[in-house]
Amino acid sequence: MDYRNFLELAYSLVRIRDLDKLLDTILSRLRIMLNCDAGSIFIYNEDTDELTFKYTQNDTMELPFKEFSIPVNKSSIAGYVALTKKMIMVSDVYKLDRNYPFQFNKTFDRMSGYRTKSMLVFPILDINGTITGVLQFINKKRQPLPVTPENASRVVMAFNKDDEVLAKSMIGIVSLALENGMLYDKMEKMWEGFITTTSQAIESRLPGGRGHTSRVETLSLILADEMTKDEEVFPDFQLDVDERKKLRYACILHDYGKIAVREAVLQKYTKLSEPEMEVISYRFKLVKTQLKAKGASQEDIDKLTGIWDNVSMANIPDRLTSNMAAALKKAHNFRFKDIDGQDQRLLTDDEYEYLMVDNGVHTDQDKAEIEEHARHTYEFLNAVPWVKNLADLPEITAMHHENISGDGYPFGLSGDEIHIYGKIMAVVDSFDTLAAKTGTYKKPVPVDEACELLKQQAKDGKLDKDIVDFFVDRHIYRRV
Ligand SMILES: [Fe+2]
Ligand SMILES: [Fe+2]
Repeated sequence: MDYRNFLELAYSLVRIRDLDKLLDTILSRLRIMLNCDAGSIFIYNEDTDELTFKYTQNDTMELPFKEFSIPVNKSSIAGYVALTKKMIMVSDVYKLDRNYPFQFNKTFDRMSGYRTKSMLVFPILDINGTITGVLQFINKKRQPLPVTPENASRVVMAFNKDDEVLAKSMIGIVSLALENGMLYDKMEKMWEGFITTTSQAIESRLPGGRGHTSRVETLSLILADEMTKDEEVFPDFQLDVDERKKLRYACILHDYGKIAVREAVLQKYTKLSEPEMEVISYRFKLVKTQLKAKGASQEDIDKLTGIWDNVSMANIPDRLTSNMAAALKKAHNFRFKDIDGQDQRLLTDDEYEYLMVDNGVHTDQDKAEIEEHARHTYEFLNAVPWVKNLADLPEITAMHHENISGDGYPFGLSGDEIHIYGKIMAVVDSFDTLAAKTGTYKKPVPVDEACELLKQQAKDGKLDKDIVDFFVDRHIYRRV
């Protein structure tokens, strides 16, 4: 037995958490130790009582992988091994005894031009002896050559007793690693499901906000992947599996802090709510009645109606016209006595301030409250005991509103102080905020115009110029 390989396998198996990497390592290391051409791993699914074909390797040919499931019964070799929990060693699967309950399915060989000959198949059992999977090794090699139907009898040999001993000695650690890997995989999926659902729940509180998070996630990852490929523009930017995951989490969680922003501020479709506008409309009606009682001219009555029309139009978050602004001012200055004889204005100070907001629905105070979401994101995430490689996730996630010039929020960082993921998210977040169809009064900016605005924001020192140019000039925004 090659103890170096054995130790390396044992060492790597306790370190690897990613299930795909784990399956790859198990198979490639054991194939080296057993000197065989191909191998596959089936994972047992207790809900369906089936074996799922999860991973395969073949030195002779590159095979398109397709996941499929087979029943645990005696008709297939893997099914038989799972059912009986017994190892099987076959010198030539084309010459199986007719009395065996299982037979070899030659369909794959016929379609691919491969020749499966010798096989060593053993069950993976957990500590309680319950089946968790099946490992299948194919074509132990006599010579390091690709296996073909023509040379199989020369190149391929049968597995032997030593292989069986080796396989048996490894099965415990493989089983344990697999169990840990699957548990980790399940926990990670559960965690991802949880944060995705949470951000969707937060989005559902925003007018027209649905889909924003997933668009930011998808587009940021496409942008980052393309930046990784381009060694000329971004020579130092690399995204490995773990870093990509970190960026993805940051995108999913970037607006998490909006959970702490009041709904009255977040869920604003118009500057004032319907009941608030109703109150103003009653004031106008009362003044109209009072004017009529005083014998005012039709012209004065029409003027009042004109003011009301402009006031109600100003409530819609579009550009405020000069007519509307003038009407709002008149209404704010107009004083009358209510039915209790109290002095009143047609528009109170607060109503006037809200209705005077140009292009949008939020006052400066509202905007400040909304901007606080980035700090909330940081504070909430910072309370989570992240694993070591995600320790900087709270900070990075909160950086999507920082400006290169240093006047962004929540930290007021500038230039290189802003993590590159923060810069990537800032570009995509701005683009989506401008161009997304929200189904509210806020009209989306046409894509070309949104791109121009991004370039302008880069010129103004808000967004990273290299990233904006790359995003716009390479048409990354079209990729969703
Ligand atoms: Fe945000
Ligand atoms: Fe956002």
